[in-house]
Amino acid sequence: MFPRDFAWGAGTAAYQIEGRVFGEQNGDVACNSYELWEKDLECIQQLGLTHYRLSLSWARLLPDGTTRRVNQKGVQYYNKVIDDLLACNVSPMVTLYHFDLPQALQDQGGWKSPDIATLFDSYAKFCFRTFGDRVKLWITINEPYVCAKLGHEDGIHAPGLKEPGIAAYLVGHNMLRAHAMAWHSYNSIYRTEQKGAVSLAINSDWLEPLHAGCTEDIAATYRHFAFTLGWFAWPVFVTGDYPEIMRSAINAQSKKLGYNGSSRLPSFSKDEPSILGTADFFALNYYTSRKVKPGEGCGKILCMKSDRHTEEVLDPSWPICGVSWLAVVPHGLRKLLKYIKDTFNHPAVYITENGFSQVGPLQIEDAQRSEFYKDTILEVAKAIQEDGVNVRGYFAWSLLDNFEWADGFSVRFGLFHVDFADAKLSRTIYQSGREYAKMISKYKCGQEEKR
Ligand code: BGC
Repeated sequence: MFPRDFAWGAGTAAYQIEGRVFGEQNGDVACNSYELWEKDLECIQQLGLTHYRLSLSWARLLPDGTTRRVNQKGVQYYNKVIDDLLACNVSPMVTLYHFDLPQALQDQGGWKSPDIATLFDSYAKFCFRTFGDRVKLWITINEPYVCAKLGHEDGIHAPGLKEPGIAAYLVGHNMLRAHAMAWHSYNSIYRTEQKGAVSLAINSDWLEPLHAGCTEDIAATYRHFAFTLGWFAWPVFVTGDYPEIMRSAINAQSKKLGYNGSSRLPSFSKDEPSILGTADFFALNYYTSRKVKPGEGCGKILCMKSDRHTEEVLDPSWPICGVSWLAVVPHGLRKLLKYIKDTFNHPAVYITENGFSQVGPLQIEDAQRSEFYKDTILEVAKAIQEDGVNVRGYFAWSLLDNFEWADGFSVRFGLFHVDFADAKLSRTIYQSGREYAKMISKYKCGQEEKR
């Protein structure tokens, strides 16, 4: 059912698991993977993963964000993680930026500053040069949508800014510039020798019109896709520029509200490396689905909600599990994979995140989550077999219960339970972890037989 070299993975992110060593400003311990890495490796082996997705902490490696000062202990830590993985026959997929920007760079304007792109490029080159002899799958930036919209428009993710209607577009733009510069650096300096592949992880829900035959709902769905998936995937995979319906919707709204500045959606400069073609595969983070209809805006205030003029609706038949935003819709993944194949020129796809959470009371025997993994992997198999999508791998989110951003430790996505009340932060496999391990072993075994 799955290709011979299919990647069976699980993922984590530095800030969500590593914690900080004594003496640094932030006392968060998270899963203390900085000290308990060997325990994580045991979990990875227990699952039988072929791949493990981790992120590097930019601040741990380069404390002021620049290559002027390198923290050798950070380099040693990641060298050990990568070497240990390879020694156990597990391939690392490494994300360079997963929501944790060095404070020194935030103080200089963070992702809103145009300079961030070259700073990111230097950091990326540092990582390619230091770890690229062993890392063959790279993700530059995780979910630019989340950092741009939730971090700079809604203020619910770091850096917590609420600057609606302007900042998110600027941030998204600088993230695309940063990603493209890093991809071009890899392509021209490192690719021939290192032979790896580089992409950015784009999150997307599967979207459908609320009423299948309703023209307004269909148009709203197109707009919503353009302002989410299309915002980042269209420039990289299709034209080198933003979807036209996104730009025209933003400009029309500016005009309506008498905003006289230049377009709030920046333009790519011809003097910079092109954005088009800067992904060697499609990295998709999928969690949930939505129905879409035209929506209300924010009145006289500029905001993305008014620009896109859409509303997301949950289908009552979709179960909500754990967090309120997460309607569990495994078949949405299959549909989205087909949509990506048709819209973005049939790319190789890695599903770089997928999962669902539980909130208390916690169950180690989490039967519902086990079913979810079974259903989802079946949908991925159908996408490959019946729809001809070139899916190359699947990474469950997450290896461990971890620091779930604004929800802290209350929301758990792990295949392993972490006891945050225990000083040893002990890890215990959930039923869903056992189920995932069983599936991996079954499908890997099928792959062996085919050989
Ligand atoms: C992020 C993860 C997060 C997960 C669940 C994704 O948006 O990449 O860091 O834990 O969703 O909320």
